[in-house]
Amino acid sequence: MHCIGLMSGTSLDGVDGVLVDFGPEGDSGTGRVVADASVPLTNALRAALLALQHPGPDELHRAAQASAQLTTVYADVAERLLTAADMAPTQVAAIGAHGQTVRHLPPGHPGLGEDEAPYTLQLLAPARLAEATGIAVVADFRSRDIAAGGQGAPLVPAFHRAAFGRAGQGVAVVNIGGIANLTALRADGGVLGCDSGPGNVLLDGWCERHTGARYDADGAWARQGRVLPALLADLLADPYFSRTGVRSTGRDHFHLGWLDVILARHPGVAPVDVQATLVALTVEGIARAVETLDWGHAEGTAPQRLFVCGGGARNQAIMAALSQRLPTVTIDTTARLGWPVQWVEAAAFAWLARQRLLGRSGNLPAVTGARGERVLGALYAP
Ligand SMILES: Nc1ncnc2c1ncn2[C@@H]1O[C@H](COP(=O)(O)OP(=O)(O)O)[C@@H](O)[C@H]1O
Ligand SMILES: [Mg+2]
Repeated sequence: MHCIGLMSGTSLDGVDGVLVDFGPEGDSGTGRVVADASVPLTNALRAALLALQHPGPDELHRAAQASAQLTTVYADVAERLLTAADMAPTQVAAIGAHGQTVRHLPPGHPGLGEDEAPYTLQLLAPARLAEATGIAVVADFRSRDIAAGGQGAPLVPAFHRAAFGRAGQGVAVVNIGGIANLTALRADGGVLGCDSGPGNVLLDGWCERHTGARYDADGAWARQGRVLPALLADLLADPYFSRTGVRSTGRDHFHLGWLDVILARHPGVAPVDVQATLVALTVEGIARAVETLDWGHAEGTAPQRLFVCGGGARNQAIMAALSQRLPTVTIDTTARLGWPVQWVEAAAFAWLARQRLLGRSGNLPAVTGARGERVLGALYAP
């Protein structure tokens, strides 16, 4: 059984894809990646999706148009994967397609009124993707978990367990996308997880505003700045950083507008120092999540190993600050385990598509807070 996983995260940088061989019965654990491909979003599509992150006029029509355009990029990545693997569409059982999150208001989100329903919304046109590729599509993975009382996120921990779990060892897996999410693989086999807070989303926005570059390549700009303790403390005063247990977040909460309100209380700070401070914020969110998750033993809070994936693993300022902040933990990227950092999320959605096809659950109630395990995603026939 072969499945494709396609992912476009909060960073709005592009669509990452992998084609995974799950073995004859679809049963070979996390499977083997046989091809990978990434396609960046055009500036126009990125701008359209960014504008849709917040309420605006005629948004249903604009959302439908952006969905169709994004689907063209998804189909392009799928096409490239088939070409690279020299396979026909009929040889692929399904595409697991995440879509583009434009709203994420899970239970407990401060933007929800008392009588308002929690929801999460990923733009994509799965019917168009099935038409374009001739492959079955599984989409809309998150909403069932929310319907079952969960956060709908993070969904990758079950895959992290399958890929990176080690019996008898506490292992943390941190995906640093736009938002950073942590999976705790406990030595006793238990799995916990949460969104730790912003990953790259503020770093990217601030970097683009002040340098014109869409992101701070290798963290080079941040490394020229110094962390501003008063600003960092003010940023960390946001209640999200004091929450423990089940929680998830998104651009709805962490965006440049959020930063600007706080910066107004710190006049005259140098942009490069703000960038360095935002690195510290991302790292502190991750470290607090690592330290407050229940690792299942009384004496220690820290895992032995921490593996980083997602584009933030390429930011040397983040990686250096993580090592400094968590000195007792051995920190590597997932590439160390044979999983290049941009594969992991896409592979998780290939895995989730496989789970859907086999009628198996995809969420972990201990992570999302859902009432129970659920089979995730809607299936569009080829
Ligand atoms: N060489 C690099 N140096 C620093 N940051 C990088 C580099 N490459 C990617 N990134 C960061 O990773 C982000 C993309 O990561 P990704 O895992 O795709 O996140 P998402 O799932 O949110 O799309 C970019 O927006 C950028 O912030
Ligand atoms: Mg991305």
